[in-house]
Amino acid sequence: MKVVTIVGARPQFIKAAVVSHILRKKHTEILVHTGQHYDYNMSQQFFEELAIPEADYNLGISGGTHGKMTGRMLMAIEEVLQKEQPDWLLVYGDTNSTLAGGLAAAKLHIPVCHVEAGARTYSRTNPEELNRICTDHIAALLLASTQSGMDCMEKEGLSERAALVGDPMYDAFLEYSGRTELTDIRLALLEGTLACVPDKYYYLTCHREENTRNDRTLLEIFRAMEQLDAPVLYPVHPRNKERALRIKQEQAFHNLILTEPVGYLESICLVNHAEKIVTDSGGLQREAFFAEKKCITILDFVCWPETMVEGRNQLAKPVAEDILDKLGQPQRVVETYHPFGDGHSAEKIVKAMEVYQTKRGSEGL
Ligand code: UD1
Ligand code: UDP
Repeated sequence: MKVVTIVGARPQFIKAAVVSHILRKKHTEILVHTGQHYDYNMSQQFFEELAIPEADYNLGISGGTHGKMTGRMLMAIEEVLQKEQPDWLLVYGDTNSTLAGGLAAAKLHIPVCHVEAGARTYSRTNPEELNRICTDHIAALLLASTQSGMDCMEKEGLSERAALVGDPMYDAFLEYSGRTELTDIRLALLEGTLACVPDKYYYLTCHREENTRNDRTLLEIFRAMEQLDAPVLYPVHPRNKERALRIKQEQAFHNLILTEPVGYLESICLVNHAEKIVTDSGGLQREAFFAEKKCITILDFVCWPETMVEGRNQLAKPVAEDILDKLGQPQRVVETYHPFGDGHSAEKIVKAMEVYQTKRGSEGL
């Protein structure tokens, strides 16, 4: 099989890392980086740390409105597909790069395989929700990370094209956890200020469009973080950098340590050693769950229902009191509960594509 894979954003590099290594054992992969994320520590660092093969194409498309970004990607990906004529187009998740890749291929009648299919927030103002729904409805093969994804697809009449493969983020977490120790972490970032010892700090990330439209959400999160009993480490996504630095300075918040984005190995190391996690990231919510750390999610919709059990992941309003209240509530970890698969989803993804390809061949399509 010849597969064109589209990546563009941080979480996609992580998923592609585990799948590419398996895919390339038997098949040809052409890797296309749209350029959506482009800073060294949002992109190239992931390629280096996770030994992701260098992209065959970097389209250099980033920023601007959703329409402009997606439209420019659509045009550029179409050209690549016309040149490469692959058997498959493989996309991950729910970013603008995902939608552009899926749409470009579907219009050229190239089958699309969507990994992380079926995830739904049921919030139509959530930009990623539109990307997920559109990609699922044009894809030929819909690979869900969890049973809830399968259930959502059944409601939308998509079951025939769907299969449950588990979560490649879980594969990555199992494979890469433990590769970095906390002492190795670039604590230079936190120079001097770090009274941050293993298991005695909180890990915060916040970057969603919903939470970055004005100061209010970040200010409330920071107010809550300031009242915690241990330092809070916040590697700031570039979308929020200016605002986060300004609010911290204006309010003279001392408990909060802001850093540049960290690499993936550092990030999961920070998850594994954190006391608790506060986030609006889909990936970090699952990693908190994998590491059995209590998580508070600052969003008004559920991304991963499997994590919202036994107090393990709770939604909080962007209000300091609510965040602190939820952080104080206990969680219970049931050892036998593994809703994200068995750590071999990458193999299952490649196998599902092979089976589909064989079936297509035998039907003379
Ligand atoms: C995107 C995804 C989101 C995902 C996130 C992962 C969409 C609609 N959203 O959001 O689902 O959770 O990636 O992190 O695709 N920027 C930089 N340097 C970079 C990357 C971005 O300065 O390396 C700036 C951009 O120029 C832009 C802003 O950050 O101004 C937002 O970037 P964008 O890619 O539009 O969205 P994300 O918030 O990263
Ligand atoms: N992450 C990282 N460095 C950081 C913050 C997060 O490597 O500074 C990792 C995190 O551990 C997870 C992934 O990035 O694996 C999640 O990506 P992000 O939050 O950007 O996107 P989302 O999952 O919300 O789409």
